[in-house]
Amino acid sequence: MVFLSLIFVSSSMPELKKCWALFVQILLLSNLQLCAHGEPEVPCYFIFGDSLSDGGNNNGLVSLAKANYPPNGIDFPSGPTGRFCNGRTIVDVTADLLQLENYIPPFATASDQQILQGVNYASGSAGIRDETAVFLGERIVMNQQLQNFQTTVSQITGMQGNNETAAMNFLSKCLFTIGIGSNDIGVNYYGPLPLSSIEYTPDQFTALLIDQYSQQLRILYQYGARKLALFGVSQIGCTPALVAWYGASPGSTCVDYINDMVQLFNNRLMLLVDDLNNDLTDAKFTYINIFEIQSSLDLAALGFRVTDDVCCGTSLTGCIPFTTPCENRSEYVYWDFAHPSEATNVIFAGRAYSAQTPSDAHPIDIHTLAQL
Ligand SMILES: *[C@@H]1O[C@H](CO)[C@@H](O)[C@H](O)[C@H]1NC(C)=O
Ligand SMILES: *[C@@H]1O[C@H](CO)[C@@H](O)[C@H](O)[C@H]1NC(C)=O
Repeated sequence: MVFLSLIFVSSSMPELKKCWALFVQILLLSNLQLCAHGEPEVPCYFIFGDSLSDGGNNNGLVSLAKANYPPNGIDFPSGPTGRFCNGRTIVDVTADLLQLENYIPPFATASDQQILQGVNYASGSAGIRDETAVFLGERIVMNQQLQNFQTTVSQITGMQGNNETAAMNFLSKCLFTIGIGSNDIGVNYYGPLPLSSIEYTPDQFTALLIDQYSQQLRILYQYGARKLALFGVSQIGCTPALVAWYGASPGSTCVDYINDMVQLFNNRLMLLVDDLNNDLTDAKFTYINIFEIQSSLDLAALGFRVTDDVCCGTSLTGCIPFTTPCENRSEYVYWDFAHPSEATNVIFAGRAYSAQTPSDAHPIDIHTLAQL
């Protein structure tokens, strides 16, 4: 989700950056020798979404939703990159499971050579709706992410000698994941400035969201996407931020009415996937049921000892720059007030890639989608 209340400026940043850059170079060198990858399951992977998938697109924006400072990235090979996590996000783990050689670069910095392996357009605090989280500053909303993708498609077409058929053939083999909607519900509808909740009921607002999302997915299809996995919204009513803000429901550790709204959204999203598969028969869409995966977890058995507190920051703030986070990150479900830890992302992405129950992915998991 988002980063609500911190603005941070540090005069020592340039030096720190140099230091990290050196560290990254050393790591890249050692990685060259260490990495023994199998054959990638897809030639390219394009990513859309919010802070759960962002890989650095917000770094250059004037925004409160930023994470390009330590201790974010404390467990990531190249340190703080703008990922809202201690380590890998759900899309990074997905890239690893697909045996891709590199993590997918953000649109903001991707080079011409890199775009043929895919691009990450996701942006912290972005929503399906343009006005979502506007008070957090600049962000790349879903509609703009689609325009950025169009730019990439033009570049790829150019690389194929302006042969559109060849570009479409190329894109049809790529995996696309989209994870969006958390901010429309958690920040737009239930945020500090809940304007939409005055105008709409949860039922009306989720219908509106799905209607707009449907149009956006059809545009993605028109631009050439053919293998699309949609991450549903997680149990955001259990995030430390929203529990601190609204209070847990009686007999629950979560804000149940927020999770109920998430379920309205998710159920409609699953039906939308069926509709799209019926309409656009040369494409395959699948719905990843993060909510259900999350609710089915036996956290204690998985080694999570801290399930309702944050590893970094407080329940109402993002990870505070240059503070020391918890010692053992893999004991924590949440990295900060709104974002899962790498340990949690490993589980989400693992079951999205290889479904353990029929409800994890509908109709197919990401491994099966990649093989099509
Ligand atoms: C464009 O690419 C397609 C698929 O690779 C190929 O069959 C076709 O001959 C190409 N067209 C031109 C004009 O080169
Ligand atoms: C960290 O937590 C995990 C999960 O509970 C556990 O398996 C591991 O042994 C812990 N590591 C340390 C250094 O305590």
